[in-house]
Amino acid sequence: MQRSRRRLSCFIFSLFFFASGIKAQQGYSRNDVLDCNYPMKAAPSPSYLYTCSEPRQHSCHAFLIYKSRQGYNSTETISHLLRSDSSELARINNVSNPYIFPTNKEVIVPVNCSCSGQYYYQAITFYVIDSDDTYYSLANDQYQGLSSCSALMGENLYDAENLSVGLKLLVPLRCACPTRNQSRDGVKYLLTYSINENDTIPDISERFNVSVKESLAANGFTDHEEAVIYPNTTLLIPLQSEPLSSQTIILEPIVYAPPPVSTLSTVNGEPKRSKKKLHFGLGAGVASLAVLCLLSLLLRRCHRKKMGRIKGK
Ligand SMILES: *[C@@H]1O[C@H](CO)[C@@H](O)[C@H](O)[C@H]1NC(C)=O
Ligand SMILES: *[C@@H]1O[C@H](CO)[C@@H](O)[C@H](O)[C@H]1NC(C)=O
Ligand SMILES: *[C@@H]1O[C@H](CO)[C@@H](O)[C@H](O)[C@H]1NC(C)=O
Ligand SMILES: *[C@@H]1O[C@H](CO)[C@@H](O)[C@H](O)[C@H]1NC(C)=O
Ligand SMILES: *[C@@H]1O[C@H](CO)[C@@H](O)[C@H](O)[C@H]1NC(C)=O
Ligand SMILES: *[C@@H]1O[C@H](CO)[C@@H](O)[C@H](O)[C@H]1NC(C)=O
Ligand SMILES: *[C@@H]1O[C@H](CO)[C@@H](O)[C@H](O)[C@H]1NC(C)=O
Ligand SMILES: *[C@@H]1O[C@H](CO)[C@@H](O)[C@H](O)[C@H]1NC(C)=O
Repeated sequence: MQRSRRRLSCFIFSLFFFASGIKAQQGYSRNDVLDCNYPMKAAPSPSYLYTCSEPRQHSCHAFLIYKSRQGYNSTETISHLLRSDSSELARINNVSNPYIFPTNKEVIVPVNCSCSGQYYYQAITFYVIDSDDTYYSLANDQYQGLSSCSALMGENLYDAENLSVGLKLLVPLRCACPTRNQSRDGVKYLLTYSINENDTIPDISERFNVSVKESLAANGFTDHEEAVIYPNTTLLIPLQSEPLSSQTIILEPIVYAPPPVSTLSTVNGEPKRSKKKLHFGLGAGVASLAVLCLLSLLLRRCHRKKMGRIKGK
């Protein structure tokens, strides 16, 4: 019953997919990605995973940023968790293998990203359920937003309420290959970056030596004003060369996690905002001046008429 329903929605899904055409650039998920029931009611969406784009590559090399933590703090444990190659991981992070990273260090993880007949790009890894794991906690806590709750539920037939210790789950990690336009512009890799509190697109772009414009475009933003980003969701950073260990940082431990908003305009948009206000101010000024003029004109005409009447009398 459930399976056939699932198949039906997959079918509707694919209809949507072909109807909508293959989008050449990826869109930003917004915080819809945190909704565990997102996929079954909508067209292919970045809230699930990134969609396969033209040229329809079978696969490509891609990178993820994973923040080291207790239990997953070495080249071996991180590469095992994300199914990467530990010696490649060590090389790209400029460390020996094995190596223990300090807590909350951003670790660059090389992965094979593939489309392989699916609608979505994914780097596949496997995870064995431990106590207290839920699809939500796996996507957002264990995998730090590098997977999505709905994609986990879509790829695994186990009921969400019935995840028992020892079950092996397939975990699709969010990745993508460069689009034709990006390749033309020299982009070789896309890096999946999971947003932290207080991150802004200009900060992240600067750190990875990418223009803000390209970063915005790579995530389907057309202008600065709409670029509102949320923690635990991913951005794609379009890289012209492999990421460097010198571009990674050690994050401050997270003290609290409100559902917050990090806007481009908090940093870069300041002058834009105030300009807008200025325009508004000017507009209001001009308008009130016009009203005043009109009023005084009317008053004068009135006065003249009265005067005329008086004169005429
Ligand atoms: C790709 O680039 C071409 C030429 O600049 C442009 O016309 C087209 O809209 C771009 N496609 C996308 C999906 O951005
Ligand atoms: C790394 O994780 C292990 C647990 O797997 C822990 O015992 C160790 O203290 C951690 N090291 C650092 C530097 O955080
Ligand atoms: C990724 O693909 C390359 C060949 O395309 C292969 O040599 C490598 O082992 C793969 N890495 C992983 C982690 O599967
Ligand atoms: C790698 O680390 C060493 C020090 O451990 C440093 O001298 C070197 O410049 C680093 N290389 C890169 C590419 O960051
Ligand atoms: C991401 O989600 C997890 C699970 O809800 C939470 O523990 C973590 O604090 C969130 N991270 C951020 C940066 O908000
Ligand atoms: C939970 O899983 C067990 C065995 O794995 C199965 O017998 C049971 O019916 C499942 N319960 C639900 C509500 O799916
Ligand atoms: C984010 O910014 C606020 C306000 O500046 C600050 O209080 C908070 O500690 C910051 N959080 C992180 C994780 O840096
Ligand atoms: C940043 O990228 C440009 C090309 O876009 C390159 O010429 C420059 O060397 C890069 N800077 C660093 C520090 O990697």
